[in-house]
Amino acid sequence: MNDAETLVEVEDLRYAYPARRKLLARRRQPALAVDEVGFTIGRGEVVALVGESGSGKSTIGRLILGMLRPDGGSVRFEGQDVHALGRRASRAHRHNYQMVFQDPYSSLNPRMRVGDAVSEALAITSELDASARREQAEALLRRVHLDAEIFERLPAELSGGQRQRVGIARALAARPKLIVADEALASLDVSIQAQLAQVFAELNAEEGLSMLFITHDLAMARRLASRIIVLNRGRIVEEGATDAVIRAPRDAYTRALIDAVPIADPVLARARQRERLARQGHAAQEDTRSTTPTTIERTAP
Ligand SMILES: Nc1ncnc2c1ncn2[C@@H]1O[C@H](COP(=O)(O)OP(=O)(O)OP(=O)(O)O)[C@@H](O)[C@H]1O
Ligand SMILES: [Mg+2]
Repeated sequence: MNDAETLVEVEDLRYAYPARRKLLARRRQPALAVDEVGFTIGRGEVVALVGESGSGKSTIGRLILGMLRPDGGSVRFEGQDVHALGRRASRAHRHNYQMVFQDPYSSLNPRMRVGDAVSEALAITSELDASARREQAEALLRRVHLDAEIFERLPAELSGGQRQRVGIARALAARPKLIVADEALASLDVSIQAQLAQVFAELNAEEGLSMLFITHDLAMARRLASRIIVLNRGRIVEEGATDAVIRAPRDAYTRALIDAVPIADPVLARARQRERLARQGHAAQEDTRSTTPTTIERTAP
């Protein structure tokens, strides 16, 4: 991938949360939450960051957005080191990305009507007058499949899925180049998840928006991302094209993650069943939950 096609370049990233107690800190080094992590996100690419709870996904998201300062390594956005920007450049960079959180309620002002919330986000990045803003805000709400009648409502008068869509509309108002969605769909019903996954897919296809999709839901990762990065204890254990990784994981940890979720794909389910049976042959030697990357190659189903 050449520079023009690379949006974000993460190199050798390391981060440890400060130890709580001085005594402990003196005795041993705090554990690294992120350990030598490197990957890229291309323009228009959707990358999924998966791994079990505590594996460092959110920490990487925060480091990429510049909310945390790394202990080592770098994050480049369009070639610029995001942790070495001056104040002005840093403020300008702030418009390049938006974050979508799991709980949209906490990111919406409870006293602000939906239309105003979206218009306000537009006002920050554009010079539109009030009526043009309203038009734009309505267009954004349509973009996430919400009707204009929702304009006058307060966040408390919305369903969880509607709130999440307002959150996404607000994020889009800033015209970001990158969206980091941290478990953005995790708290929603499966049917709403599917609708929002559709919205994300459209945004990516039609506007070339890049996305880092943080999730422990492999089925969702499979649906949205073309590339998947598997994280275990702060380290990348596997990375590749989503289908290739899910169909033929090379790492034992990835395999355990995949085995833990039901995937509604009969061909894949049968292949997985065959693999499970085959694996039972040498289950005694191999601990599938081992945290050390294995190099055991399996034959493709
Ligand atoms: N504010 C904090 N202070 C100290 N340690 C933290 C803090 N936030 C996270 N950690 C630790 O850093 C490691 C990585 O946490 P992180 O939140 O990045 O995981 P995650 O993969 O996002 O997990 P989840 O799926 O549960 O959201 C964990 O061991 C966690 O306990
Ligand atoms: Mg997290």
